[in-house]
Amino acid sequence: AFNIHHRSLLSLMHHSERELCYLLDLARDLKRAKYSGTEQQLLKGQNIALIFEKTSTRTRCAFEVAAYDQGANITFIDPGSSQIGHKESMKDTARVLGRMYDAIEYRGFKQEVVEELARYAGVPVYNGLTEEYHPTQMLADVMTMRESTDKPLHQISYAYVGDAHNNMGKSLLLIGAKLGMDVRIAAPKALWPHQEHIDACQRFADESGATITLTEDPVAAVKGVDFIHTDVWVSMGEPVEAWGERIEQLLPYQVNSKLMQLSGNPRVKFMHCLPAFHNTETKIGKQVADQYPHLANGIEVTEEVFESPACIAFEQAENRMHTIKALLVATLGGV
Ligand code: CP
Ligand code: NVA
Repeated sequence: AFNIHHRSLLSLMHHSERELCYLLDLARDLKRAKYSGTEQQLLKGQNIALIFEKTSTRTRCAFEVAAYDQGANITFIDPGSSQIGHKESMKDTARVLGRMYDAIEYRGFKQEVVEELARYAGVPVYNGLTEEYHPTQMLADVMTMRESTDKPLHQISYAYVGDAHNNMGKSLLLIGAKLGMDVRIAAPKALWPHQEHIDACQRFADESGATITLTEDPVAAVKGVDFIHTDVWVSMGEPVEAWGERIEQLLPYQVNSKLMQLSGNPRVKFMHCLPAFHNTETKIGKQVADQYPHLANGIEVTEEVFESPACIAFEQAENRMHTIKALLVATLGGV
């Protein structure tokens, strides 16, 4: 059954291929409408709370602009200036915000927290990133892949190379499995998603016709792919001390010109959810390069690849807004 109105988006686990494609098609339509100046406001007077327990540029701005474009209002809430966490439980926060807002976005640490929020709020809750999943990012990633090739979804192949135990690794495996794509994950075994997650994705793949491959060999993973994705080697919420071990584990998985070339596809595109460490212009990028001088030209991706025409990370970033708008319109729109 097709059922998207008033639905939360917590992980993508419970959304069907048809529902996901509906959101992607709607995002394409809304993007066209905005570009042509014909966008209709379908969320006038709705109020959306945005809770961020971790920092954000894209996700926050995408929700804010999407809401404004559609005539909705937002409240930005961070734990430092609210009672959340230190003085009030998520269960109580959910019951308060659910009485005032039409929907709630939540970015934080544990997946269980966003699920508890959804259980008690009584309004749709959107996961804006947890340690486990980054579902709104997945909509933007698939939209961007679709825009960048003439192939139908079922014929698109992509590799994710890097920390596959993080939210991006797990989510990219899941979305490709749901949508019938050819997904390859390359990471050292210690950084693969847990087995239960792989098994769940395999079951979705059996249904959709997707092919999922997990390997420790980055070169094998990228053979013939249309897209190569990566993400930071240490995620938000992980200790800075993790860098040393991660660099050792992931050095062979850096996306550089050689790996791009080894795909054998001269038209292969590079994708990254951002922020990316591709030079020493950020504090962390600089600290890492001071200690590991061979990473001065990029950590998970080199400056050369990032600044090349193959990089479509900024298209991806823009599409965060169009896809989040589609999510808001589909779940809250009065139709
Ligand atoms: N990709 C992403 O989620 O970016 P932000 O952390 O800036 O929201
Ligand atoms: N894996 C990264 C993604 C950032 C958008 C993190 O969780 O920090």
